[in-house]
Amino acid sequence: MSHIQIAIDGPSGAGKSSLSKAVAKELGIIYVDTGALYRTVGFYARSIGIPSDKSEIARIVPHLGEINIEVKYENGVQCVYLNGENLGDRIRENEISMYASTVSAVPEVRAFLLDTQKDIARKNSVIMDGRDIGTVILPDADVKIFLTASCETRARRRVAELAEKGMPAAYEVVLSDIIKRDEQDSSRDVAPAIAAPDALHFDNSFDGFEAAKEALLTMIRKGLSEKGKEI
Ligand code: DC
Repeated sequence: MSHIQIAIDGPSGAGKSSLSKAVAKELGIIYVDTGALYRTVGFYARSIGIPSDKSEIARIVPHLGEINIEVKYENGVQCVYLNGENLGDRIRENEISMYASTVSAVPEVRAFLLDTQKDIARKNSVIMDGRDIGTVILPDADVKIFLTASCETRARRRVAELAEKGMPAAYEVVLSDIIKRDEQDSSRDVAPAIAAPDALHFDNSFDGFEAAKEALLTMIRKGLSEKGKEI
């Protein structure tokens, strides 16, 4: 049987990664976090002193050849290696979120990361989350879902997530960053973060995690069975 491809797109903090991880576990497939790849490029840009501003970030382009990114799965957990080093949670910092957002609007960066993403889906059954998975990376995915939640819900979740990781941030700062990133991500010229025309919409503002997970699983199983791909 051919591999299964499930594409999950939507803004940050909508719950894509926690829900996708849970679904992956339930279905016995791999969860691929593509935001981590943009974060890794952003991390490298900062390490060589390039500012994250929109007007400066294209200075990363001549340096892309210095970047080697490898994605490995260790005990089912995705690890991203930058030039041989596992960056772990260092790519989760708030400052790196802003770097990832501006760096991801650079067409050369998107082209640079394209094959890495397609390759993983060629070799494995995946649930892959990001912004352009259903539109650009896996346009023939078996199921496409656009996951959203209100800005306030997303900011609250992100504050809790950062606190848990020992990187506390103020709600107001996180909320205004989220609004700014949404604007940047959805209005950029290349691969804007918008729903594929054939994506199913899922609003994750209200339900608790378990209810949302079950509802998403039902949606995915139905979509797969319509493609003749029971799991
Ligand atoms: O999902 P995330 O918050 O870790 O993503 C970080 C940034 O990378 C986000 O601002 C948008 C960008 N991104 C993207 O443009 N395309 C993807 N497939 C994944 C993330």
